[in-house]
Amino acid sequence: MGKWWQNSTVYQIYPRSFNDSNGDGIGDINGITERLPYLKQLGIEVIWLSPVYQSPNDDNGYDISDYEAIMDEFGTMEDYDRMLAEANRLGLKIMMDLVVNHTSDEHHWFIESRQSKASEKRDYYIWHDPKTNGEPPTNWAAAFGGSVWEFDEATGQYYLHLFSKKQPDLNWENENMRHDIYQMMRNWLDKGVAGFRMDVINMISKDPRYPEGELLKTGYNDGSPYYFNGPKVHDFLQEIHQEVLADYETITVGEMPNVNVDQAKLYTGEDRKELDMVFHFDHVGLGDGELGKWTPKEWKLTELKKIFTRWQEGLDQVGWNSLYWSNHDQPRAISRFGDDRAQYREKSGKMLATCLHMLKGTPYVFQGEEIGMTNVKFDSIDDYRDLESINAYHELTDKGLLTEDEMIRAIHQRGRDNARTPMQWSSENHAGFTTGEPWIKVNPNYPDINVKDALAREDSIFYYYKQLIELRKQHEIFVKGRYQLLHPDREDVYVYERVLDDQVLVVLTNFTDQVVSVDMTVDLTKATCLITNETEAIKQTEAGYTLQPYGAYAFLLKR
Ligand code: GLC
Ligand code: CA
Repeated sequence: MGKWWQNSTVYQIYPRSFNDSNGDGIGDINGITERLPYLKQLGIEVIWLSPVYQSPNDDNGYDISDYEAIMDEFGTMEDYDRMLAEANRLGLKIMMDLVVNHTSDEHHWFIESRQSKASEKRDYYIWHDPKTNGEPPTNWAAAFGGSVWEFDEATGQYYLHLFSKKQPDLNWENENMRHDIYQMMRNWLDKGVAGFRMDVINMISKDPRYPEGELLKTGYNDGSPYYFNGPKVHDFLQEIHQEVLADYETITVGEMPNVNVDQAKLYTGEDRKELDMVFHFDHVGLGDGELGKWTPKEWKLTELKKIFTRWQEGLDQVGWNSLYWSNHDQPRAISRFGDDRAQYREKSGKMLATCLHMLKGTPYVFQGEEIGMTNVKFDSIDDYRDLESINAYHELTDKGLLTEDEMIRAIHQRGRDNARTPMQWSSENHAGFTTGEPWIKVNPNYPDINVKDALAREDSIFYYYKQLIELRKQHEIFVKGRYQLLHPDREDVYVYERVLDDQVLVVLTNFTDQVVSVDMTVDLTKATCLITNETEAIKQTEAGYTLQPYGAYAFLLKR
């Protein structure tokens, strides 16, 4: 134990929405370079950069047509090198997004692959014959609507795409393909990047039998048991480690929908040499209904606590957790798990941050989270840009599964564009993100919620995050303390301890807009308060310790 990234905090940049330096309405690399001092000020040590590679942008860069070139809209490789050098000079590391489950259909490998069955690159992708009746090999649903199979006239076969049809899946069974990927990874590491966030990396190994799955409401089948955590996924990850990572000091995190704790032990187990951490989806899936996130329901705090506790206890001494409330695919943390009404926005944002950053693991902050950005509610589907939301809107309303109204409301709550509206830098036009027309509308609340305002106020959520990030570097207990949940059955508070030798870190958070009391066996009035979002010291009454609405405290004490 004791890796450099265990007491670090990672900050995620979604480049398209971060900062536009040349007025074309699209965030870019030079825009990031301009803002590096801001990130330095926040205290983070690692930047996870969502994809900046050449891409036709069907899925905003998650469809890569050249892994070793920078997207024209984002700048040039010289711009990138300058950004990396400047980041390193400031002591900031850069973690690249590695999207190798699929490429763009405009990648030259795919262009060659689709040309003929005899193409040298044919098997870089997954091609199958139609069934005898001409239908696709399976009836599996793609993540972004429709079937996972697309028929290609030229050769009379179908190719597999678990996401959009412009994102054909790579065939990891092909050794040449794998070695091309490894070389590409080495090239980036040789440039000086610190590691990789690996996009849907538990989907790279498919069950070669391609069985049908259960029928879904959309009329497609659920193929997920046959491509998540597939038969060779651990072999491939161990090979990546052996062929690439073993030669460098890296930080790696695998994005893994549909992963459980036992599987994560295998992915992150220290002796197994696969990954440092995984992103599981258990808490961000809370309240998913019949049609997943498009039919959101109420969720309970006890469920959230159960999920975090399962992961905290499960990976203890074995692997390592990643901690996050939000990212570019999720709604804004405060709207999702806190309370975005004006009077509670910052208070609940600080509470959520306290709750998360004190857990055992490495915290990830998504751009704008540190100033308490919230969800956006565009009235019309025309204002949305995310292909997932747009495709689901049409598919589910066309099939009569949801009305347009229901669908817009679901997008307001859970759509990915909540995270992708431009970063709010100031109260100037377009939130200071661009001098041109932004590629997606700015959240209209930017006059109240922006970086300039947050930096000007000592008690802002920004400085609270800064303090949390600093604290984890000062106290070993953040990294090493064993997690212990208290009051598991309460629906209003999340209270836990971290224990290291005779030291105890006590974390109390109130997830409601009510005043609550918490009964504790330890004397908190004598403990050191490390951080709080309350204006007063904690008070004790007969009923216990008092927490104001969305109040949070963390105490350090000796047993
Ligand atoms: C991951 C990314 C998401 C993307 C998808 C396909 O889930 O985070 O943004 O659309 O993979 O690459
Ligand atoms: Ca630009």
